[in-house]
Amino acid sequence: MNILVTGGAGFIGSNFIRWMKKHAPEHRIVNVDALTYAGNLENLADLPQDEGYRFLRADIRDRAKMNEVFFEYDITHVVNFAAESHVDRSIVDPELFLSTNVLGTQALLDTAKQQWKLAPEDKYSREFRADVKFLQVSTDEVYGALGRDGLFTESTPLAPNSPYSAAKASADLVCRAYYETFGLPLNITRCSNNYGPYQFPEKLIPLMIHNCMQGKPLPVYGDGMQIRDWLHVDDHCSALYAVLTRGTAGEVYNIGGNNERANLDIVRLILHTLGAEEDLICYVKDRPGHDRRYAIDNTKITTQLGWAPSYTFEDGIARTIAWYQNNPQWLENVLSGAYADYYERMYAPSFQ
Ligand code: NAD
Ligand code: DAU
Repeated sequence: MNILVTGGAGFIGSNFIRWMKKHAPEHRIVNVDALTYAGNLENLADLPQDEGYRFLRADIRDRAKMNEVFFEYDITHVVNFAAESHVDRSIVDPELFLSTNVLGTQALLDTAKQQWKLAPEDKYSREFRADVKFLQVSTDEVYGALGRDGLFTESTPLAPNSPYSAAKASADLVCRAYYETFGLPLNITRCSNNYGPYQFPEKLIPLMIHNCMQGKPLPVYGDGMQIRDWLHVDDHCSALYAVLTRGTAGEVYNIGGNNERANLDIVRLILHTLGAEEDLICYVKDRPGHDRRYAIDNTKITTQLGWAPSYTFEDGIARTIAWYQNNPQWLENVLSGAYADYYERMYAPSFQ
């Protein structure tokens, strides 16, 4: 495969490239990333520079550039991670989320259709090159929020509640349309919350680890009893590879590891692991439209594709905390500049 990985300098994309280099090094990877505040080439600094890997700084909305990349590298597969990914930022600037997550995805779909379709000018033709696939990396947040009971299945109706999840759900629907109308071979994956190394410290787990290490307050939204279903990023990567290589075209696959935790329990676990006191916890105003609970039914991917997660949460979180403790320079570099400004705007009023 000649794989176009978009957003490969972000958290999951960089872990995916590293995972591929370890587990499936025979495939060539072209990493296209616009290097927004969340894109960090340091995430890939340990990667051997060889013939099988190229980085290009580009925006997925740049159609001419995407065409050029497909042509030059004979792209056969796309794994589309590129997105604005943080819910709180989407509340401040929804338009950017619609632009990148929806129109960016559509620009990539159009490029793939144009380049892979055997008769691109024939609107009735559904014939594509053999062995091509577009994988849209989506999220469980498109399903909205659950009450106390129940799980998200692939047929749960889409009911996004934030501008971020609305943009991701919209992109999913555009992907669906490109499969139904044009026959473009594609899959959509919907994964639960990821954790692991190289996650930008605006997200719950790395933010709490960092603040705890610094003795800073830990900002818990609302009552802290919201539930997320956590999966180690390596397990997300192995699931994506399973879908990329074995998924049936046109299908959606949920990804999750049956690991529901309340935010407060995660925060307490981090505090205790780092030997800090509970009085660091600071309850702040709740996120508007905050989804109460997410939980994934992973029956389809486990039974149909034989995928299973390999980390227990206890092992994964211990390794993750140790990684942030052992990489203070990475954290320091990420936290300088633009992120520091954003952090001030976001939290300063709550701590006064
Ligand atoms: P991230 O914010 O860490 O990384 C996003 C990357 O996309 C960055 O490197 C950024 O520079 C790049 N990017 C943004 N706009 C771009 C553009 N216009 N053109 C090219 N590159 C652009 O995000 P993440 O947490 O790694 O998430 C990756 C994907 O996985 C997203 O699509 C997200 O919706 C999805 N997802 C994330 C999680 C999670 O828990 N983090 C769970 C399920 C699904
Ligand atoms: O479910 C998958 C999604 O998980 C991905 O699609 C998103 O890209 C990813 O950002 C993540 O979304 P969440 O909103 O669930 O993640 P976040 O880390 O922002 O928040 C996790 C929970 O912790 C959520 O209930 C809000 C809460 N929280 C978060 C932050 C940043 C706090 O209580 N305090 C905080 O400071």
